[in-house]
Amino acid sequence: MTEQRFLHGQWSSRMAFILAASGSAIGLGNIWKFPYLAGDNGGGAFVIVYLLCVVAIGIPIMIAETMLGRRGRQSPINTMLSLAEEAKASPHWHYAGWLGVTAGFLILSYYSVIAGWSMAYILKVGGGFMEHASAATAQSVFLELKASPDIQAIWHTAFMVATMLIVSRGINEGLERATRVMMPGLLIMLVVLDIYAMTTGGFGQGMAFLFEPDFSKLSGASVLTAMGQAFFSLGLGMGSIMVYGSYLPDHVSIAKSSLVVAAADTLVALMAGAAIFPIVFANQLEPGMGPGLIFETLPIAFGKMPGGSLFGLVFFLLVFFAAITSAIALIEPAVAYLSENRGLSRAAAAWWSGLVCWALGLGTVFSFNAGSGATWFGKNFFELVDFLTADIMLPVGGILVAVFAGWIVKREASEAELEMGGAYGLWRALARYVAPFGVGLVFLRAIGIL
Ligand code: TRP
Repeated sequence: MTEQRFLHGQWSSRMAFILAASGSAIGLGNIWKFPYLAGDNGGGAFVIVYLLCVVAIGIPIMIAETMLGRRGRQSPINTMLSLAEEAKASPHWHYAGWLGVTAGFLILSYYSVIAGWSMAYILKVGGGFMEHASAATAQSVFLELKASPDIQAIWHTAFMVATMLIVSRGINEGLERATRVMMPGLLIMLVVLDIYAMTTGGFGQGMAFLFEPDFSKLSGASVLTAMGQAFFSLGLGMGSIMVYGSYLPDHVSIAKSSLVVAAADTLVALMAGAAIFPIVFANQLEPGMGPGLIFETLPIAFGKMPGGSLFGLVFFLLVFFAAITSAIALIEPAVAYLSENRGLSRAAAAWWSGLVCWALGLGTVFSFNAGSGATWFGKNFFELVDFLTADIMLPVGGILVAVFAGWIVKREASEAELEMGGAYGLWRALARYVAPFGVGLVFLRAIGIL
């Protein structure tokens, strides 16, 4: 099936794909989520497990998922269906596509709320309201935002509308252009923050927290969280990278591109961690303060450094851009499916999907205030959706991708698609054995069997 059938367009170059895939990978997961999860789970040991998962499980699955996309050239649901047909396997494999589409809706629903927080912070920090802010001020500003459902709902709506405006314009027009500008900017801002962090007096302690493992702090649940974060941060297990792969021209090396994207993603997460924990320790704060971590710490830094309000404005603007390029990836599988199978225009598919995510997102908005008492298994709405997606659906989706690519797709097919020479055997072993069993092991450990 090498003939080209681009249903939705094609990336203009290898670089365009790498930028888009990095845009999908690098987002709130790196800047907001990784630091607070590392903080909640004791630091170093969590970070090591996370890195191991990226290398041994994440990269092979990223290659597998991209490969399936390019070979199928449709939305994840239809890709799975036609590749199963090609391999004479059960059509039930297409339910893996449905699992992914569902996970994308659920993730984007809360992702948009958090992205809304960063939009609010563009004004709060950029407007100079945090100049010379103490840790206590920074904390109370954040708590105030968390306590107001109306303000969060407004920003959540604004983020969703902005995302759907870009998605409705299609892949070359919208997605590529949006990605190309923000990546270098974000990197520069993180360097500025890292340099600031070195001057805080908490640098040594921050580095020790992040990189010196204390395995006694590692529970089965933390191991699962670390693995879930590897999937989340790389953007795997729900069809994002599969659908991006479906827009990839032939003969672009999938393995090399995946390595570049995974390396960039990991670097950005570690740079964010290296910026935040020194600030935490220099201000006698707690690393385990949860989802508010970057919002309660970074404004202190911006409040103290010269030109900080401007830096802060630029930083949160870039976080917003990073979030929007990931949000696009989260909804693209659903949009591709709706326009293939339901005959909707791209724009209609985008707006209907956006509406569903928006409504679900209100559950997250209220989970931080009026609805915080509503819990399931001890988790509020946000925590429940996060757990179900990152810790369950993405790893399960990842296993399905690995098993399908490693065991169901014919060897000739994957070998021809990947064109990776001698490294093919290594990938195949990782996809067939290491990734599925690795994920399975972590699941067993989390429920206390291992
Ligand atoms: N990787 C993005 C982040 O770290 C979010 C994201 C994009 C994602 N596509 C995904 C998460 C697919 C899980 C699955 O912010």
